[in-house]
Amino acid sequence: MSNTSAGHDRAPTPEARAASALSAYLDHAATTPMLPAALAAMTEELAQLGNPSSLHSAGRRARRVVEESRELIAEAYGARPSEVIFTSGGTEADNLAVKGMYWARTAADGRPRRVLTTATEHHAVLDCVRWLTEHDGAVACWLPVGQTGAVSPQTLAAAIEQDPASVALVSVMWANNEVGTVQPIAELAEVAAEHQIPFHSDAVQAAGQLPVSLRATGATALTITAHKIGGPVGVGALLLARGAQPVPVLHGGGQERDVRSGTLDVPAIRAFAVAVQTATERRADEAKRVAALRDDLIAQVKAAVPDAILNGAAPGRGRLPGNAHFSFPGCEGDALLMLLDARGIACSTGSACTAGVAQPSHVLLAMGADEARARGSLRFSLGHSTDQAEVDALGSVIGEVVERARRAAR
Ligand SMILES: Cc1ncc(COP(=O)(O)O)c(C=O)c1O
Repeated sequence: MSNTSAGHDRAPTPEARAASALSAYLDHAATTPMLPAALAAMTEELAQLGNPSSLHSAGRRARRVVEESRELIAEAYGARPSEVIFTSGGTEADNLAVKGMYWARTAADGRPRRVLTTATEHHAVLDCVRWLTEHDGAVACWLPVGQTGAVSPQTLAAAIEQDPASVALVSVMWANNEVGTVQPIAELAEVAAEHQIPFHSDAVQAAGQLPVSLRATGATALTITAHKIGGPVGVGALLLARGAQPVPVLHGGGQERDVRSGTLDVPAIRAFAVAVQTATERRADEAKRVAALRDDLIAQVKAAVPDAILNGAAPGRGRLPGNAHFSFPGCEGDALLMLLDARGIACSTGSACTAGVAQPSHVLLAMGADEARARGSLRFSLGHSTDQAEVDALGSVIGEVVERARRAAR
C-alpha cells in the first residue's frame, strides 16, 4: 500500500484555484479535496482487477488491499479491524446504525421504542428517526440543546431515567456539520452505557479534525465517511463495536459480516485508508494551523461587519477548528452565497431548499434562533488546502457583499 508521509502535499494548489476561477474554497465541510496520496492510490488501484470475494489470486490480492485498509482505519479510530464495516458513505452508515440498531432492539423482549437524539443532527440521522416514527412505531425524543447546540450528559440522563427500559437507542452527532459544535461524546456514551443502551454517534465531521476513538468513548457505533477527510466520495464506514448486531438494511451477498451486503469498492477503500492515515498523522498540527486561520477569518468578518453574529460555541475545544458560522442581520443567506460565488468564493448556507423556497436552518432553529437569524446565515469551513490568501480574499469582499445583500432585502 502506498505510504503517504512524504511532503506536505495540499490540494488544490493556488494555480489550480486560479485555473478554476475560485479565489477561496471555504466549503470543506461539504466535501474536501482529495489528498494527492489518496488520489494516487485510487488511480493505481482502478487499474487492478479482482473482486475481494473471489477465491482466485486476483480476488485474493483485492482482499488483501481491503484488509490492509481495514487495519489502517481501525487503528486510526480505536477499533479492531473486525469492527470496521465498509459502506457507501456517511448516509448509509447512519441508516444502518439507526434503523438497524432500532430493529435489533425492537426484535428483543420488551420492545423498547424510544429513540433519543437531537434536533440538530444531520438529515441522515434525523430523517431515519422520523421514518421509524412514521413507519415503525418509534417514539422520537428530541434532547434539548443549549444556545451553542451542545447537549449535556445530565439532559441525556434525565431523558433516559424517565423510563430506561423504553429506550431503544441514543444517537448524538460528534460534531455538528453546520455550526461546528462538538458534543461531550465520551460522557454521553457513558450515560447510555450505564443503562446498557446502544449509543451511536455520527462522527463524519469530527473524524478528520479531532481524535475520534470507538474504544476510548465506549460508543456502540460511529459513522465516518471518506470525502470529509481527503478521500473519495462514495465510501465510508460504520465502526461497530463487537457484539452489536444491527439488522441489515441491505441484503445480498453477505459481505461485511452479513451486516452490509454489496461488492466492496476496492479502489475507494484503499484511497479512504490512505486519506485516514495521512489525516491522522497530520491532525494535531493541522488542527492548530486551521484554527489559527479560522480565528483570523472570524476577526476579518467581524471587522468588516461588526454586527455579524458568530453562531455556535466560542473557538476552542467546543468547536471544530475548521468551522466559522455567522448570521448576518438583514440578509438572506442565499443572496450572500450567490454574491460571494460571483466573486470566486465558495461557502454554504445551512438552509435547505424545499420546492424552490429557502427554508431556515433546522440547526439554528433548534438552538433557539429566530427565523430571520436562521435564514441569514453562512458557514465558512476550512480544511487541509486552506491558506491565508483564501481567508484574505473573503475578508476583502465580505463587507461590500453584506451591504449589497442588505440593500436587496429592503
Ligand atoms: C454530519 C454528517 N453526517 C452525514 C453526512 C453524509 O455523509 P455522505 O455524504 O458520505 O453520505 C454528512 C455529509 O454532509 C455530514 O456532514
